[in-house]
Amino acid sequence: MAKVLVTREMVDEAVRALTGRCELDLYTGPPEAIPRDEFLERAAGKDGLLTMLSERVDAELLDAAGPQLRVVANHGVGYDNIDVAECTKRGVLVANTPDVLTEATADLAWALILASVRRIAEGDRFLRTGKPWIWGPRMMLGQELHGRTLGIVGYGRIGRATARRAEGFGMRVIHTARAGSADSVPFGTLVAESDVISIHAPLTPETRHLFDADVFRRMKPTAVLVNTARGPLVDEAALAEALRAGEIFAAGLDVFEREPEVEKALLALDTVTIVPHLGSATAQTRAAMGLFAVENVLDGVAGHRPRALVNP
Ligand code: DGY
Repeated sequence: MAKVLVTREMVDEAVRALTGRCELDLYTGPPEAIPRDEFLERAAGKDGLLTMLSERVDAELLDAAGPQLRVVANHGVGYDNIDVAECTKRGVLVANTPDVLTEATADLAWALILASVRRIAEGDRFLRTGKPWIWGPRMMLGQELHGRTLGIVGYGRIGRATARRAEGFGMRVIHTARAGSADSVPFGTLVAESDVISIHAPLTPETRHLFDADVFRRMKPTAVLVNTARGPLVDEAALAEALRAGEIFAAGLDVFEREPEVEKALLALDTVTIVPHLGSATAQTRAAMGLFAVENVLDGVAGHRPRALVNP
Protein backbone atom coordinates (compact mmCIF):
# COMPACT_ATOMS: atom_id res chain seq x y z
CA MET A 1 0.00 0.00 0.00
CA ALA A 2 1.22 3.52 -0.82
CA LYS A 3 2.40 5.65 2.09
CA VAL A 4 0.77 9.09 2.38
CA LEU A 5 1.46 11.93 4.85
CA VAL A 6 -1.35 14.45 5.48
CA THR A 7 -0.02 17.55 7.21
CA ARG A 8 -3.21 18.81 8.90
CA GLU A 9 -6.50 17.31 10.03
CA MET A 10 -9.03 17.66 7.24
CA VAL A 11 -12.82 17.50 7.47
CA ASP A 12 -14.14 14.03 8.35
CA GLU A 13 -15.37 13.18 4.82
CA ALA A 14 -11.88 13.70 3.43
CA VAL A 15 -10.12 11.67 6.14
CA ARG A 16 -12.67 8.86 5.63
CA ALA A 17 -12.02 8.90 1.88
CA LEU A 18 -8.31 8.22 2.47
CA THR A 19 -8.65 5.72 5.30
CA GLY A 20 -8.02 2.15 4.17
CA ARG A 21 -6.85 3.26 0.70
CA CYS A 22 -3.27 4.00 1.72
CA GLU A 23 -0.95 3.69 4.68
CA LEU A 24 -2.03 6.96 6.24
CA ASP A 25 0.20 9.16 8.43
CA LEU A 26 -2.05 12.02 9.59
CA TYR A 27 -0.52 14.90 11.53
CA THR A 28 -2.91 15.71 14.37
CA GLY A 29 -0.71 18.12 16.34
CA PRO A 30 -1.76 21.51 17.69
CA PRO A 31 -3.53 23.99 15.38
CA GLU A 32 -0.22 25.49 14.28
CA ALA A 33 1.43 24.11 11.14
CA ILE A 34 3.46 20.90 11.45
CA PRO A 35 6.94 21.93 12.70
CA ARG A 36 9.48 21.93 9.87
CA ASP A 37 11.69 19.26 11.51
CA GLU A 38 8.75 16.95 11.98
CA PHE A 39 7.60 17.56 8.39
CA LEU A 40 11.04 16.60 7.07
CA GLU A 41 11.11 13.51 9.31
CA ARG A 42 7.59 12.27 8.55
CA ALA A 43 7.89 12.91 4.79
CA ALA A 44 10.74 10.39 4.61
CA GLY A 45 9.75 7.28 2.63
CA LYS A 46 6.29 8.58 1.65
CA ASP A 47 4.84 8.09 -1.84
CA GLY A 48 2.43 10.99 -1.54
CA LEU A 49 2.16 14.19 0.50
CA LEU A 50 -1.13 16.00 1.07
CA THR A 51 -0.02 19.46 2.12
CA MET A 52 -1.49 22.79 3.25
CA LEU A 53 -0.47 26.28 2.11
CA SER A 54 1.64 26.64 5.29
CA GLU A 55 4.05 23.82 4.36
CA ARG A 56 7.08 24.74 2.29
CA VAL A 57 7.82 22.04 -0.28
CA ASP A 58 11.32 22.72 -1.58
CA ALA A 59 14.53 20.89 -2.48
CA GLU A 60 15.33 20.21 1.19
CA LEU A 61 11.92 18.61 1.76
CA LEU A 62 12.12 16.61 -1.47
CA ASP A 63 15.57 15.32 -0.43
CA ALA A 64 14.18 14.34 2.97
CA ALA A 65 11.18 12.59 1.39
CA GLY A 66 13.32 10.49 -0.95
CA PRO A 67 13.20 9.46 -4.62
CA GLN A 68 10.08 7.26 -4.24
CA LEU A 69 7.88 10.38 -3.74
CA ARG A 70 5.39 10.56 -6.62
CA VAL A 71 2.95 13.35 -5.79
CA VAL A 72 2.39 16.47 -3.71
CA ALA A 73 -1.32 17.31 -3.53
CA ASN A 74 -1.95 20.76 -2.09
CA HIS A 75 -5.19 21.31 -0.15
CA GLY A 76 -5.91 24.65 -1.87
CA VAL A 77 -5.93 26.37 -5.22
CA GLY A 78 -2.80 28.45 -4.48
CA TYR A 79 0.51 26.59 -4.58
CA ASP A 80 3.12 29.30 -3.98
CA ASN A 81 4.33 27.16 -1.03
CA ILE A 82 5.59 24.54 -3.50
CA ASP A 83 8.71 24.74 -5.66
CA VAL A 84 6.97 23.35 -8.73
CA ALA A 85 10.09 23.59 -10.93
CA GLU A 86 12.09 21.49 -8.43
CA CYS A 87 9.26 18.91 -8.23
CA THR A 88 9.04 18.75 -12.02
CA LYS A 89 12.81 18.26 -12.29
CA ARG A 90 12.52 15.25 -9.97
CA GLY A 91 9.43 13.82 -11.66
CA VAL A 92 7.16 14.61 -8.69
CA LEU A 93 3.58 15.48 -9.67
CA VAL A 94 2.03 18.59 -8.11
CA ALA A 95 -1.74 19.04 -7.89
CA ASN A 96 -4.13 21.63 -6.43
CA THR A 97 -7.88 22.05 -5.85
CA PRO A 98 -9.19 24.70 -8.29
CA ASP A 99 -12.86 25.58 -8.97
CA VAL A 100 -14.41 24.11 -5.82
CA LEU A 101 -13.56 27.17 -3.69
CA THR A 102 -14.28 29.88 -6.26
CA GLU A 103 -17.75 30.92 -5.08
CA ALA A 104 -16.98 30.72 -1.34
CA THR A 105 -13.88 32.89 -1.77
CA ALA A 106 -15.75 35.45 -3.88
CA ASP A 107 -18.42 35.61 -1.15
CA LEU A 108 -15.75 36.31 1.45
CA ALA A 109 -14.26 39.05 -0.73
CA TRP A 110 -17.70 40.67 -0.75
CA ALA A 111 -18.10 40.18 3.01
CA LEU A 112 -14.87 42.17 3.43
CA ILE A 113 -15.88 44.79 0.85
CA LEU A 114 -19.16 45.42 2.66
CA ALA A 115 -17.56 45.32 6.10
CA SER A 116 -14.93 47.83 4.96
CA VAL A 117 -17.17 50.36 3.23
CA ARG A 118 -19.86 50.21 5.95
CA ARG A 119 -17.55 49.94 9.00
CA ILE A 120 -19.23 46.76 10.25
CA ALA A 121 -16.44 45.42 12.48
CA GLU A 122 -15.78 48.89 13.88
CA GLY A 123 -19.49 49.32 14.71
CA ASP A 124 -19.60 45.92 16.37
CA ARG A 125 -16.50 46.72 18.44
CA PHE A 126 -17.96 50.12 19.40
CA LEU A 127 -21.25 48.70 20.70
CA ARG A 128 -19.42 46.12 22.79
CA THR A 129 -17.63 48.91 24.69
CA GLY A 130 -20.99 49.86 26.25
CA LYS A 131 -20.31 53.56 25.56
CA PRO A 132 -23.45 55.75 25.30
CA TRP A 133 -24.66 56.42 21.74
CA ILE A 134 -27.67 57.71 19.86
CA TRP A 135 -28.50 57.69 16.13
CA GLY A 136 -27.09 60.80 14.47
CA PRO A 137 -26.57 62.13 10.92
CA ARG A 138 -22.80 62.16 11.34
CA MET A 139 -22.33 58.82 12.97
CA MET A 140 -19.89 56.29 11.43
CA LEU A 141 -20.28 57.35 7.83
CA GLY A 142 -19.11 54.82 5.27
CA GLN A 143 -18.87 54.81 1.47
CA GLU A 144 -21.59 54.09 -1.10
CA LEU A 145 -21.11 51.18 -3.55
CA HIS A 146 -23.91 51.86 -6.04
CA GLY A 147 -22.63 53.62 -9.16
CA ARG A 148 -19.01 53.22 -8.08
CA THR A 149 -16.13 51.26 -9.66
CA LEU A 150 -14.80 47.88 -8.57
CA GLY A 151 -11.25 47.12 -9.72
CA ILE A 152 -10.28 43.45 -9.87
CA VAL A 153 -6.58 42.64 -9.83
CA GLY A 154 -6.18 39.03 -11.01
CA TYR A 155 -9.09 38.20 -13.30
CA GLY A 156 -9.04 34.42 -12.98
CA ARG A 157 -11.81 32.19 -11.66
CA ILE A 158 -12.18 33.94 -8.28
CA GLY A 159 -11.68 37.43 -9.69
CA ARG A 160 -14.43 36.85 -12.25
CA ALA A 161 -16.79 35.37 -9.61
CA THR A 162 -16.20 38.46 -7.47
CA ALA A 163 -16.88 40.69 -10.49
CA ARG A 164 -20.18 38.88 -11.25
CA ARG A 165 -21.51 39.78 -7.80
CA ALA A 166 -20.89 43.48 -8.50
CA GLU A 167 -23.85 43.62 -10.87
CA GLY A 168 -26.23 43.24 -7.94
CA PHE A 169 -24.65 46.27 -6.30
CA GLY A 170 -24.89 48.40 -9.44
CA MET A 171 -21.13 48.76 -9.77
CA ARG A 172 -18.97 49.19 -12.86
CA VAL A 173 -16.15 46.60 -13.02
CA ILE A 174 -12.67 47.11 -14.42
CA HIS A 175 -9.76 44.65 -14.31
CA THR A 176 -6.21 44.15 -15.46
CA ALA A 177 -6.61 41.02 -17.58
CA ARG A 178 -5.28 40.93 -21.17
CA ALA A 179 -5.06 44.33 -22.84
CA GLY A 180 -7.85 44.64 -25.38
CA SER A 181 -10.30 42.41 -23.50
CA ALA A 182 -13.55 44.10 -22.43
CA ASP A 183 -13.24 46.35 -19.34
CA SER A 184 -9.48 45.75 -19.14
CA VAL A 185 -7.40 48.78 -18.14
CA PRO A 186 -3.72 49.33 -17.29
CA PHE A 187 -2.85 48.76 -13.62
CA GLY A 188 -2.26 52.50 -13.04
CA THR A 189 -5.73 53.36 -14.37
CA LEU A 190 -7.34 50.71 -12.18
CA VAL A 191 -5.56 52.07 -9.12
CA ALA A 192 -6.60 55.65 -9.84
CA GLU A 193 -10.23 54.98 -10.87
CA SER A 194 -11.38 52.24 -8.48
CA ASP A 195 -13.49 52.89 -5.40
CA VAL A 196 -12.95 49.30 -4.31
CA ILE A 197 -9.94 47.18 -5.27
CA SER A 198 -10.17 43.43 -4.73
CA ILE A 199 -6.99 41.36 -5.12
CA HIS A 200 -7.20 37.87 -6.65
CA ALA A 201 -3.77 37.45 -8.25
CA PRO A 202 -1.39 34.61 -7.40
CA LEU A 203 1.77 35.32 -5.42
CA THR A 204 4.82 35.32 -7.70
CA PRO A 205 8.11 37.27 -7.59
CA GLU A 206 6.40 39.83 -9.89
CA THR A 207 3.32 40.35 -7.68
CA ARG A 208 5.13 40.55 -4.30
CA HIS A 209 4.38 44.03 -2.84
CA LEU A 210 2.34 44.94 -5.93
CA PHE A 211 0.51 47.24 -3.51
CA ASP A 212 3.13 49.48 -1.96
CA ALA A 213 3.38 53.07 -0.66
CA ASP A 214 3.46 54.50 -4.17
CA VAL A 215 0.27 52.66 -5.21
CA PHE A 216 -1.57 53.73 -2.05
CA ARG A 217 -0.71 57.36 -2.83
CA ARG A 218 -2.32 56.96 -6.26
CA MET A 219 -5.58 55.46 -4.88
CA LYS A 220 -8.63 57.59 -4.07
CA PRO A 221 -8.80 58.72 -0.42
CA THR A 222 -12.29 57.16 -0.30
CA ALA A 223 -11.15 53.82 -1.75
CA VAL A 224 -10.98 50.47 0.02
CA LEU A 225 -8.57 47.61 -0.59
CA VAL A 226 -9.57 43.98 -0.05
CA ASN A 227 -7.13 41.06 -0.19
CA THR A 228 -8.32 37.45 -0.19
CA ALA A 229 -5.40 36.18 -2.33
CA ARG A 230 -2.00 36.08 -0.62
CA GLY A 231 -0.66 38.45 2.03
CA PRO A 232 2.71 39.35 0.48
CA LEU A 233 0.99 41.03 -2.49
CA VAL A 234 0.51 43.94 -0.07
CA ASP A 235 3.25 45.80 1.78
CA GLU A 236 1.50 45.75 5.16
CA ALA A 237 3.66 48.42 6.80
CA ALA A 238 2.95 50.77 3.86
CA LEU A 239 -0.76 49.90 4.04
CA ALA A 240 -0.91 50.76 7.74
CA GLU A 241 0.81 54.07 7.05
CA ALA A 242 -1.55 54.88 4.13
CA LEU A 243 -4.59 54.19 6.30
CA ARG A 244 -3.18 56.20 9.19
CA ALA A 245 -2.45 59.14 6.85
CA GLY A 246 -5.94 58.95 5.27
CA GLU A 247 -4.55 58.12 1.81
CA ILE A 248 -7.20 55.39 1.53
CA PHE A 249 -10.46 54.84 3.44
CA ALA A 250 -10.25 51.24 4.70
CA ALA A 251 -8.92 47.74 4.10
CA GLY A 252 -10.33 44.23 4.47
CA LEU A 253 -7.77 41.45 4.82
CA ASP A 254 -8.19 37.69 4.82
CA VAL A 255 -4.48 37.00 4.29
CA PHE A 256 -1.30 38.43 5.78
CA GLU A 257 2.25 39.16 4.71
CA ARG A 258 3.83 37.02 7.45
CA GLU A 259 0.86 34.75 8.06
CA PRO A 260 -0.21 33.71 10.66
CA GLU A 261 1.38 36.83 12.20
CA VAL A 262 -0.62 40.05 11.75
CA GLU A 263 1.24 43.36 11.45
CA LYS A 264 0.86 45.19 14.78
CA ALA A 265 0.36 48.57 13.10
CA LEU A 266 -2.73 47.17 11.34
CA LEU A 267 -4.20 45.75 14.54
CA ALA A 268 -4.19 49.25 16.01
CA LEU A 269 -6.39 50.68 13.22
CA ASP A 270 -10.20 50.77 13.28
CA THR A 271 -10.22 51.11 9.50
CA VAL A 272 -8.94 47.55 9.02
CA THR A 273 -11.24 44.52 9.04
CA ILE A 274 -9.33 41.27 9.47
CA VAL A 275 -10.33 37.61 9.39
CA PRO A 276 -8.05 34.55 9.69
CA HIS A 277 -7.74 33.28 6.07
CA LEU A 278 -11.39 32.20 5.82
CA GLY A 279 -11.87 32.57 2.05
CA SER A 280 -12.73 28.91 1.45
CA ALA A 281 -13.97 28.22 4.99
CA THR A 282 -17.48 26.88 4.47
CA ALA A 283 -18.39 23.33 5.46
CA GLN A 284 -19.35 22.52 1.85
CA THR A 285 -16.24 23.99 0.24
CA ARG A 286 -13.79 22.48 2.72
CA ALA A 287 -15.37 19.06 2.14
CA ALA A 288 -15.03 19.53 -1.62
CA MET A 289 -11.40 20.70 -1.27
CA GLY A 290 -10.50 17.80 1.01
CA LEU A 291 -12.07 15.22 -1.30
CA PHE A 292 -10.36 16.81 -4.33
CA ALA A 293 -6.96 16.73 -2.62
CA VAL A 294 -7.53 13.09 -1.62
CA GLU A 295 -8.45 12.18 -5.21
CA ASN A 296 -5.29 13.95 -6.44
CA VAL A 297 -2.97 12.20 -3.99
CA LEU A 298 -4.49 8.75 -4.61
CA ASP A 299 -4.26 9.24 -8.38
CA GLY A 300 -0.65 10.37 -8.06
CA VAL A 301 0.52 7.45 -5.89
CA ALA A 302 -1.24 5.03 -8.27
CA GLY A 303 0.81 6.47 -11.14
CA HIS A 304 -2.15 8.27 -12.75
CA ARG A 305 -2.27 11.90 -13.79
CA PRO A 306 -4.19 13.88 -11.13
CA ARG A 307 -7.24 15.78 -12.45
CA ALA A 308 -5.76 19.10 -11.32
CA LEU A 309 -2.13 18.77 -12.33
CA VAL A 310 0.00 21.90 -11.86
CA ASN A 311 3.34 20.86 -13.43
CA PRO A 312 3.82 22.31 -16.91
C1 DGY B 1 -6.25 28.50 -1.39
O1 DGY B 1 -6.93 27.53 -1.71
O2 DGY B 1 -5.22 28.81 -1.98
C2 DGY B 1 -6.77 29.31 -0.27
O3 DGY B 1 -5.97 30.37 0.06
C3 DGY B 1 -7.07 28.45 0.93
O4 DGY B 1 -8.42 28.51 1.01
